[in-house]
Amino acid sequence: MGAGKTTLGEALADALGRPLVDVDHQIEQEEPISQIFATAGEAEFRRRETAQVLDALAASSPSVLALGGGAVETDAIRTGLRDRALTILVEVEPAEAWRRVGGSERPLAQDEDLFHRLFEQRRPLYDHAADGRAHDVESAILVAGGTHVETGALERLGELVPGSGPVEVISDARVAGIYGMDVQLALGSRARAQHELPPGERAKTVESLEALWRGLRLDRLGSLVALGGGCTTDVAGFAAATYLRGIDWVAVPTTLVGQVDAAIGGKTAIDIPEGKNLIGAFHWPERTVIDPGTLATLPEQELANGRAELVKTGLLAGEKLWELPLEHQVRRAAAFKTAVCLRDPHDRGQRAQLNLGHTFAHALEAAAGYELPHGRAVALGLLAALRLSGLDTKAVEETLRPEPLRVDRERAWAALERDKKAVGGAPRLVLLDAPGKPRIGVEVPPADVRAALDELIAG
Ligand SMILES: NC(=O)c1ccc[n+]([C@@H]2O[C@H](COP(=O)([O-])OP(=O)(O)OC[C@H]3O[C@@H](n4cnc5c(N)ncnc54)[C@H](O)[C@@H]3O)[C@@H](O)[C@H]2O)c1
Ligand SMILES: [Zn+2]
Repeated sequence: MGAGKTTLGEALADALGRPLVDVDHQIEQEEPISQIFATAGEAEFRRRETAQVLDALAASSPSVLALGGGAVETDAIRTGLRDRALTILVEVEPAEAWRRVGGSERPLAQDEDLFHRLFEQRRPLYDHAADGRAHDVESAILVAGGTHVETGALERLGELVPGSGPVEVISDARVAGIYGMDVQLALGSRARAQHELPPGERAKTVESLEALWRGLRLDRLGSLVALGGGCTTDVAGFAAATYLRGIDWVAVPTTLVGQVDAAIGGKTAIDIPEGKNLIGAFHWPERTVIDPGTLATLPEQELANGRAELVKTGLLAGEKLWELPLEHQVRRAAAFKTAVCLRDPHDRGQRAQLNLGHTFAHALEAAAGYELPHGRAVALGLLAALRLSGLDTKAVEETLRPEPLRVDRERAWAALERDKKAVGGAPRLVLLDAPGKPRIGVEVPPADVRAALDELIAG
């Protein structure tokens, strides 16, 4: 009571594109709650509440459900929540809650002593029902997506990997050398074998995947931990999706690209000679554990790759993310990507906005024979997307300092045309009506696209 569930529920429903079902509000539609308490008693109110909650939980499409403070006292509701919902406890100090609702028309907020006693009585039920805790919409989104951001999280990995079964860890040699031992210690008696991947994109091959499949010893109760950059989480996530027809995994991204992008949203993949990321699966990790502290050892070049995705995210969100302290940038960007992916988990619509600037970036990477750092290509791609959107390019120029590239123009154009043919017909791009207002599938005249691409190329 008085924790702000309705306000937070509205904001969360909006962020996730789901309807809000406010149980108390629905009951009020039939009859004022104070009147139900006065004439038929609390038991009748609980009966109506239970019916509403079970109805909402049985619905086939997902919603955000705001529960009254006493709902968890009903067994059937607790069981329903456990089976059908992810439950977030909105924390509030009892004194603060009383300040907000004490003496209001709420039947159970009439007497301060009773209010506090009720709170103490319910507290263990709240603790038991809660899958996570939140105090604002950002933390609620993170809980909903299983994204955990905390400096020092690596040391608590034993608690943060859900369940109590055995854990095998996958990483590349460099990351294993820096963090492998800490992770083994943190996992304690749950730790089993460690597996090592070849460096970089070479991890994402059929051969290295086969080595994982054959090396894993987990049963269905075990979990995989993917510790490293996007290459590690992509292939380890795919191994988890396919081994024994799918086991749980936890992504522990240690690059900025991984923390704000690759390790969030459940896309896993490997490459084949015909193209990057062509083979994969949607397999959402049980949790993504982000420890921004691990960025301290990341080389500048790798940070720059992540910064380009951060600026992309800031443009999509309409926030100057890049002006925040790094840890806050990571948290905001991770929450943004989590929300987009929860709205569109299988990439059938709005998730395409995350490709802002990437049509151009991929064309430049192809023209450079994939010798170009992704962040440099994305910085240029963002520049082109902003120009075609008719928007100011200053933010990208000042934060990413993109330099025109020396590549073959015809080769870049051919790659871009091939890319867009793959989706059929005219060039369709992600553009911005304004920062924070992305528009997907915008048709742009080929000559304008070509001109924008040419502007990114030197000489
Ligand atoms: N699944 C998705 O949604 C998604 C999204 C974006 C990108 N990706 C994929 O991610 C991959 C790129 O990921 P990346 O940029 O993280 O590259 P990466 O995984 O190759 O890591 C980059 C380098 O940094 C090193 N490293 C990692 N963490 C470190 C640390 N804390 N300290 C020191 N060194 C560290 C690694 O050993 C590696 O050499 C691409 O294959 C791309 O396709 C996937
Ligand atoms: Zn990218």
